[in-house]
Amino acid sequence: MYSIAIDGPAGAGKSTIAKALSKKLGFVYIDTGAMYRAVALFFLEKGIKESDDERIDKLLDDLDISIKYADGEQRVFLNGTDVSDKLRQEEIGKLASKFSAVKSVREKLVALQRKLAERENVVMDGRDIGTVVLPDADLKIYLSASSGVRARRRYLELIEKGFDKSTLNEGEIEAEIIKRDEADMNREISPLKQADDAYYLDTSDMTLKEVVSKILAMVKEER
Ligand code: C5P
Repeated sequence: MYSIAIDGPAGAGKSTIAKALSKKLGFVYIDTGAMYRAVALFFLEKGIKESDDERIDKLLDDLDISIKYADGEQRVFLNGTDVSDKLRQEEIGKLASKFSAVKSVREKLVALQRKLAERENVVMDGRDIGTVVLPDADLKIYLSASSGVRARRRYLELIEKGFDKSTLNEGEIEAEIIKRDEADMNREISPLKQADDAYYLDTSDMTLKEVVSKILAMVKEER
């Protein structure tokens, strides 16, 4: 099996790039952020806070998370219910960052992610893929861009999704992004960091096409 690990901060373009790459290569794209978002949604709906370790541990035992693919898109199921469409809101991303610092949550999701990569060629994106989930990945990329560029991309993405411009503030989006990165980089368990053997790619001045071509060239070289 061949695996590509893509890590990096929020809004670096990981999922867009990983999706495009997996399509070109005929690999399965695994969005690990969506799994953390699904767990956050689950606890949000139960009214449980990220500090409530005991209840989280207990409920996780009964929580079945499964992944299915429809038309090449990953769908996340919580106890049999497809929650994928609820996951993209900024609030859920913020909450996912909080729950992702809980040990039992990470243990459960890392085990699931490793299992998924055992059976297929994958492009997996997240924060700890090259360092923890797939330390033996065939190719590791650490994708970044300046926080200003990442905020701009997020802003445009939200407008494209139909959000009203007057409700969006680019400065606020950038501040949120910086805050979330700081939390992800400084947490105790599996913080976001570049793996020693990962290629660093700053995409601030690159188009999607350029980034994908560059990574495809790397795959060719490595394979
Ligand atoms: O990538 P996305 O914005 O969907 O991730 C949401 C949050 O989930 C991140 O801010 C991060 O805290 C957490 N996450 C993680 N490890 C991963 C993927 C996501 O901790 N592999």
